[in-house]
Amino acid sequence: MTEQSIPAPPILKLEKVIKTYHSGHQSLTVIRDITFTVPPGESVAIIGPSGSGKTTLLGICAGLDQPSEGAIELCGHRLDQLTEDQRAEVRNRKLGFVFQNFQLIPTLTALDNILIPLELRGDRKAREQALDWLAKVGLADRGHHYPVQLSGGEQQRIALARACVGNPEILFADEPTGNLDDETSQQIEDLLFETHARIGNTMVLVTHARELAQRCDRVLRIRSGHLEEVTDHVRS
Ligand SMILES: Nc1ncnc2c1ncn2[C@@H]1O[C@H](COP(=O)(O)OP(=O)(O)O)[C@@H](O)[C@H]1O
Ligand SMILES: [Mg+2]
Repeated sequence: MTEQSIPAPPILKLEKVIKTYHSGHQSLTVIRDITFTVPPGESVAIIGPSGSGKTTLLGICAGLDQPSEGAIELCGHRLDQLTEDQRAEVRNRKLGFVFQNFQLIPTLTALDNILIPLELRGDRKAREQALDWLAKVGLADRGHHYPVQLSGGEQQRIALARACVGNPEILFADEPTGNLDDETSQQIEDLLFETHARIGNTMVLVTHARELAQRCDRVLRIRSGHLEEVTDHVRS
């Protein structure tokens, strides 16, 4: 076999993942049995109705949450076998995550929120890159503002800048255009795909936006705790 014909190992691999939430005497199985892989450089959209487990699945893929059963391999690490500190280390070095509710740090300015992941990595050009991303998301003049002084859409753009600024190998984004008007959505979408084209990173996006899903290589739908390929997906 020539070198070219050997497929690259997946950057993300889930095997027989199950997630059950327990509260009091009640339990709710949100993810029943999910197995899937994502090769490096692919863009994947995950769709599904509200409450179907998209956020849960994304959190498990990124090592923010633990499955009840099953194995997760991310960037060559078996996440389910690592300690919390080791998982945090993998997250800092390898991935970016845009939360559905942004989760900006309220006591830090917009600029400092973007700076955090770079400072954790000890990046010497941190400030320059953070300012660059602040401008990319159209908020160059808002760097000194605190999250509470920003609208939902502006907070979302800061969250996106924070997730992308370190050029992560894999970017997870939970409804990254969910709170934005059409024009801003389009800008954010373009920014995501420009970054994807520039650095060749992997993207796993949860989205309700048809246009965003259509730009991805592959669309997966979560239904009744299972993940299925959307076979009539045509990339635009
Ligand atoms: N920490 C939790 N404890 C108990 N139930 C939860 C928890 N997080 C989510 N759920 C429930 O799991 C289901 C899936 O939630 P979620 O993953 O947020 O779905 P989606 O992102 O597709 O809207 C919902 O019924 C939700 O109420
Ligand atoms: Mg959700």
